[in-house]
Amino acid sequence: MRIVVLVSGSGSNLQAVIDAVAGGELGVEIAAVGADRADAYGLVRARAAGIDTFTVEFGDYAERAAWDAELTRVTASYAPDVVVSSGFMRIVSAAFIDAFGGRYLNTHPALLPAFPGAHGVRDALAYGVKVTGCTVHWADAGVDTGPIIAQEAVAIQEGEDEDSLHERIKQVERRLLVSTLSDIAQNRLL
Ligand code: GRF
Repeated sequence: MRIVVLVSGSGSNLQAVIDAVAGGELGVEIAAVGADRADAYGLVRARAAGIDTFTVEFGDYAERAAWDAELTRVTASYAPDVVVSSGFMRIVSAAFIDAFGGRYLNTHPALLPAFPGAHGVRDALAYGVKVTGCTVHWADAGVDTGPIIAQEAVAIQEGEDEDSLHERIKQVERRLLVSTLSDIAQNRLL
């Protein structure tokens, strides 16, 4: 199964996928890693692993639609079976998702449908929930919406801050993303 992974930030979840692919048993090939910003550290991780990278800078386009069309064109040029949003902090259009047959996978650091959006960890802490977690789902054109594939809970510790909670969630999220990709590659979820 060929995937293109989209990142905006550090790409530690991407690194977990790179490591699992290198292990050779995932049945996944990372065709390319793309970003909306040239300084995304995930691009550095990809290059270090010998993976093709591309950037479609959001700020280079006056119109979101033009940015989205170019992202679609470049992503499609790698002919992925599945596109993975792994800390990709941009909403894409329905046309983008259609171009990949709806096979647009997202990971989110909260138990959807609770706490969607860019600050899922912060919002869960602010609300005062005792349990949060992470979600891997097929994404539609909404904000963190679409059919849920896998979730895992993480209990919030007394006095915990956003960074430490997010790091503990990401440890679970990395494992869940890798196991979900493995399930999809074995056709158990298609
Ligand atoms: C993950 O928690 C992802 O779900 C969220 O941003 C984080 C990305 O982390 N949207 P990284 O770039 O993979 O380290």
